Amino acid sequence: MKTQIGIIGAGPAGLLLSHLLSLQGIDSVVLESRSQDYVIGRVRAGVLEQGTVDTLKAAGLGGRLENEGLEHEGIELLFNGIARRIDFPSLTKGKKVTVYGQKEVIIDLIAARQAAKAKLYFEAKASKIEGLESDKPVIHFEKDGQQHRLECDFVAGCDGFHGIARKSIPNDVLTVYEREYPFAWLGILAEAAPSSHELIYANTESGFALHSMRSPSISRNYLQCDPKDDIANWSDEQIWQELSQRLARKEGSFHLNTGKIIEKSITAMRSFVVEPMRYKNLFLAGDSAHIVPPTGAKGMNLAVADIRILSKAFIDFYKQTDTNGLDSYSETCLRRVWLAMRFSWWMTSLLHKFPDDDAFAYKLQLAQLDYATTSLAAKTSLAENYVGLDLDFKG
Ligand code: APR
Ligand code: PHB
Repeated sequence: MKTQIGIIGAGPAGLLLSHLLSLQGIDSVVLESRSQDYVIGRVRAGVLEQGTVDTLKAAGLGGRLENEGLEHEGIELLFNGIARRIDFPSLTKGKKVTVYGQKEVIIDLIAARQAAKAKLYFEAKASKIEGLESDKPVIHFEKDGQQHRLECDFVAGCDGFHGIARKSIPNDVLTVYEREYPFAWLGILAEAAPSSHELIYANTESGFALHSMRSPSISRNYLQCDPKDDIANWSDEQIWQELSQRLARKEGSFHLNTGKIIEKSITAMRSFVVEPMRYKNLFLAGDSAHIVPPTGAKGMNLAVADIRILSKAFIDFYKQTDTNGLDSYSETCLRRVWLAMRFSWWMTSLLHKFPDDDAFAYKLQLAQLDYATTSLAAKTSLAENYVGLDLDFKG
């Protein structure tokens, strides 16, 4: 089999790349190791930056997103029992975020690819990439028990953190930057109407909590927990009780709506970046190159930003034999990746209880939160990062 761009992975990065390339008549093949049902069934994050929404709409993927996405003009930060709101439009020249699950983005992308009769293969596991130094790299993959070869001009490694693309780069070429956090998130999806119009990020003496949502009838909530904890140790009652305690406020009323829990799991948290994001004819994008803790809701948005940059680089190459975009890909992406790393790390540090924290550390967190929600300069910083920095951020 032959194509121009061989794409490994059908997450948001791989699917969007294949879609944007096809709009410009560039051929690609997407290989995905999992089944279509599995890829669609995964529960993941759900906040789209303004730039992500604009990209999806411009690519003709805005239909359901416009009808079902929930536009949010702010978030609440809750600390010491007091809630303070950050208003995005007034701080960012009118920008907002949209709550729309990654799962929905994936459903829309798969539908668009399949409608275009794309070469999108599920249960097709890439096992090896050969000849990255040549102008015809080959991806070896297994499908239906048979070994196959995909010859391409370039390989896009969109295969997430556990994929093979990053591992195909010689060790001495890559530098890894990593931080593990001493806590995890216990996440639940529940048949309960959201308890607030906007997301609530809470810092409490028992740890972090987040109230989020997926639709007018489905809530998504998170609790900070021990990374070694087992989800089996948490009964539904305990989860609701802990959420309701952590989201309680001293002023104003708040009632946490409860309901049937339809999914629950514990996710470890880390920050991870590899540099560079290109090796010869292999380009890494999304989680294969970087992971952020979910606190700033940046994971999927970073994947989309990488693909905006990579798709333009491929289009410039094929349409104008211009290699500048390909040559600057890694550097361009990494600047924005590190800005998002900083923001996610900052939100994480601000809102979680660290095992070694003493009373002084807690008081400092409260002062930071007070400042971040009072000073115009600090509120602007939080808001502009949350709604997403421009690709060529100049301040
Ligand atoms: N061959 C084929 N496919 C593979 C292989 C392989 N060897 N290894 C991994 N994959 C697939 C995975 O099954 C997965 O569907 O690559 C896909 C990678 O998709 P994602 O993990 O969703 O990564 P990405 O597209 O970069 O999107 C990043 O996903 O994990 C979330 O929070 C993260 O929101 C962020 C987003
Ligand atoms: C989610 O709704 O899943 C969500 C929202 C905000 C975050 C992380 C996750 O920061």
